[in-house]
Amino acid sequence: MDGLNALKKKYLDQIMAASDEAALEDLRLAAIGKKGEVSLKMRELGKMTPEERKRAGPVLNALKNEITSALAARKASLADAALEERLKAEWLDVTLAGRPRSRGSVHPVSQVTEEIVAIFADMGFSVAEGPQIESDWYNFDALNIPPEHPTRTEMDTFYMHRDAGDERVPNVLRTHTSPVQIRHMLAHGAPTRIIAPGRVYRADYDQTHTPMFHQVEGLALDRDISMANLKWTLEEFCRAFFEVENVELRFRASHFPFTEPSAEVDLRCSWDKGQLKVGEGDDWMEILGSGMVHPKVLRAGGIDPEQVQGFAFGIGIDRLAMLKYGIPDLRAFFDCDLRWLRHYGFRALDVPTLRGGLSA
Ligand code: DAH
Repeated sequence: MDGLNALKKKYLDQIMAASDEAALEDLRLAAIGKKGEVSLKMRELGKMTPEERKRAGPVLNALKNEITSALAARKASLADAALEERLKAEWLDVTLAGRPRSRGSVHPVSQVTEEIVAIFADMGFSVAEGPQIESDWYNFDALNIPPEHPTRTEMDTFYMHRDAGDERVPNVLRTHTSPVQIRHMLAHGAPTRIIAPGRVYRADYDQTHTPMFHQVEGLALDRDISMANLKWTLEEFCRAFFEVENVELRFRASHFPFTEPSAEVDLRCSWDKGQLKVGEGDDWMEILGSGMVHPKVLRAGGIDPEQVQGFAFGIGIDRLAMLKYGIPDLRAFFDCDLRWLRHYGFRALDVPTLRGGLSA
């Protein structure tokens, strides 16, 4: 059995140098396949004397084993290298933010509503809701607007249909979000802090009025609430909403049946080429109505005005959207014109938060 060392070296070197599985398979056949060199040598064992066979047998077996394990080792290392290559090629940064290709967009009214909710939530207000078809008691009487009160006609109310002979006072499409105050007081009492965003309806139509629009009502009730709390809350709100440090508000004495005293709130601003600048300039823009909740309203909500006071406010959401995002005509808000929505809409996955940015 000469030349076994040379044979061993030849195969082990070639196995180490093999570059793929096919080359390894060829080597396996050439060495230990049926007609492989090592197999042929093993066959020669039969022609040997017992002594010769005793020496050569184990050597050949060892050679066969060595080649078998060299083949397996090389195969494994080729597989490792292939995996390594693949991992390099298919590398993916899972920390990279997604790139949404959504086609829809968020309507400015939804965007602004989300912004308002985020700001008031941060001040401890929760969100309350009420029906859009209201009884006239919730919409008017409970808010200290008796049947003969001029507000009823001023608000251009839509009345629901009643069948002939049905003498009950018709329901109305709510003309403001204020009835949610009453519903919330009756259901939850005081103390409480809520905002109530939603749709409201009035028969009116021009550049700044549509028959359906959006308001957000605010209500805070507790034992020692004053106008000072109202002023601070509204200033904080405006600062966060308009995203400017220096906001200045002017409280103008006014009248609402459901508050006493009542104030309309104006925001210091200027107009530069049709673009609003908040917090500077000589103009004032009315942005909301507010006041201390009228004792009669508290009583209608089942709350004792001797024990509890509170402030309330009502803001036009669409108007805030027009101001903040420079949108000139309210009617276009509700035309469902895709070009308008693409222009003024917001990215669907940008949820406004105080920390992440409201309109970023
Ligand atoms: N409800 C009033 C409106 O629609 C807005 C309003 C004014 C709401 C003063 C209030 C308030 O809560 O205190 O015109």
